Amino acid sequence: MTHDNKSSNRSGNRSFEDVLRVRMSRRNVIGHGAALSATGFLAALAGNKLFADNATAATAQSASKTVAQGSGTAIAQRQGSSLINFPPLPAAKSAGPVPSISSAYQFDVLIPWGTPIQPGGPTYDGNPNTRPTAAQQAQQVGIGHDGMWLFPIGNGNDHGMLALNNEFGSNTHVLGKEVPESLEDVRLSQHAHGVSVVEIKKVNGKWQTVRSANARRIHVNTPVTFSGPAANSRLLRTTAGNPPLGTVNNCANGKTPWGTYLTCEENFNAYFAATGEWTPTEAQARYGLSAGGSGYGWEKFDPRFDLSNSSYTNEENRFGWVVEIDPMDGSQTPVKRTALGRVKHENAELVEGQGGRAVVYMGDDERFDYIYKFVSESNWRSMRARGISPLDQGKLYVAKFNDDGTGNWLELTINNPALKAKFADQAELLTYTRIAADTVGATPMDRPEWIAVAPNGEVYCNLTNNTRRQVADAANPLAPNPFGHIIKWRDSNNHIGTTFTWDIFVLAKDTHSIDKSAFGSPDGLWADPDGRLFIETDGSQPMVNGVQLNDQMLVADPSTGEICRIFSGVTDGEVTGITVTPDRRTMFINIQHPGNGDPSKTNFPAPQGSNKIPRDATIVITKKDGGIIGS
Ligand code: FEO
Ligand code: CA
Ligand code: CA
Repeated sequence: MTHDNKSSNRSGNRSFEDVLRVRMSRRNVIGHGAALSATGFLAALAGNKLFADNATAATAQSASKTVAQGSGTAIAQRQGSSLINFPPLPAAKSAGPVPSISSAYQFDVLIPWGTPIQPGGPTYDGNPNTRPTAAQQAQQVGIGHDGMWLFPIGNGNDHGMLALNNEFGSNTHVLGKEVPESLEDVRLSQHAHGVSVVEIKKVNGKWQTVRSANARRIHVNTPVTFSGPAANSRLLRTTAGNPPLGTVNNCANGKTPWGTYLTCEENFNAYFAATGEWTPTEAQARYGLSAGGSGYGWEKFDPRFDLSNSSYTNEENRFGWVVEIDPMDGSQTPVKRTALGRVKHENAELVEGQGGRAVVYMGDDERFDYIYKFVSESNWRSMRARGISPLDQGKLYVAKFNDDGTGNWLELTINNPALKAKFADQAELLTYTRIAADTVGATPMDRPEWIAVAPNGEVYCNLTNNTRRQVADAANPLAPNPFGHIIKWRDSNNHIGTTFTWDIFVLAKDTHSIDKSAFGSPDGLWADPDGRLFIETDGSQPMVNGVQLNDQMLVADPSTGEICRIFSGVTDGEVTGITVTPDRRTMFINIQHPGNGDPSKTNFPAPQGSNKIPRDATIVITKKDGGIIGS
């Protein structure tokens, strides 16, 4: 999604760039001289025994060797990974209006925007002279394909329920005009947003939707419910007394070991605006709510989204949550899990921690916002056996990164005197999670996007970019850093501890001289069970040998540092979302906002020259030799 270039964080907490500058500067003195790269930085860290596991030791060894050889861009140059054995997609083939893929792979297209949820339902095919009606759109796959997960049926290798986020679509793309002119227009836009759950099956070698008892659309007007500490809060009620409806700006996702899907509400503020006089409260300002919104115009015809309509005060507090959906029960009411806090959620990476606790890592995607962690109160299996959701009871923490490579998870609880002075109760604290995090002194980050936990327990987070980075001294080769970086850390006590050690995995800028590795603006991220990292991009990409790269997907081997491009999207379209069949012989990813909806840029997935409106769609990837994706 396009993000505005502002920050709502006025807390004055030290920013990550500041911590990094100080730290890298210090390392430079201690370590490897002026050519210090991210790799050298990593090696220096490992030498200080901040990381003790084998994988990191291997990385450090390799890194030290390369640094000793005098390479300034070591990470991308190292070869010989046992995890990555496919020919890279060269930069020269990573541009233009149609997707491309490594020669060892092939791809197909599945469920573009407008595909009927049930076969035989109403279809929209990208005809530039028409659009679906609002009622039709509610029976179709939405737009803005983003996070998703495949829930197996049978062994799952050729059949499953696919839950897919439909993050956003501009009015120009969805309505064919910039401003809605009726409630019907607004409903069409609202129904294009949310989540699509479809049943998909491989028939004669090709994946397709099949008739399903549980396929459904969840959109901005679907009944939802609240659970957890803030569920009954006055802050989630309006004087109009309207029931809670809908989910919006569903960015990335998570999944639980008990078989449910987590969809994360990100830039919900974009859809609220004021038709009359309105002054933001401190909390509204901190969440980026503004009189003009982002121009969707919903407030003109739907008072729920009108910030100046006092009957609907608090409506915006109903968004910004992590929402749990049962993909196998089409009648289930989606549940907003308030214990996980209210921010602009990117994804929700759930891992089983010490003692069987459910641990959820979450980024708040805005410049100078934070990284969070939720830890369930006890073993998730025993909680469920007692009829308690593991996502309803537990502790929420926010990350503080220290200069010396250590970090602290700061607990966001009303028992903290500083927070008790600020909030009436835990419900209010959770509703205004960002303000609580400001208060305890969390570290403002460079737009935390997806977080992924590797099989060795290391946690990776994409920090997509920060155009305001002002680190411009010799001690910090990153400045300015419009292309972002990837950070990693290891929590104490198998994910449930309150301390961690951290390091930089890669600075995107360091990859730019390497054809196969060059990337910027890392966004989507997934670690496969072998330890490969899949990195997807959204935003500024480098120019390589005169080619301006499209958004793309790359595969990284953290044990060697090798990074290799596997897939390129289309002009002005982001690559996001990732899931696989259990055998990992099929991977699904998404192309979002192809051509930003402009048919002169691309007609994807229709043939070029067809004049069709480009449509967001899922890409089905297989390896020509039938191998594991990424190998
Ligand atoms: Fe929806 Fe932060 O990307
Ligand atoms: Ca994005
Ligand atoms: Ca994203």
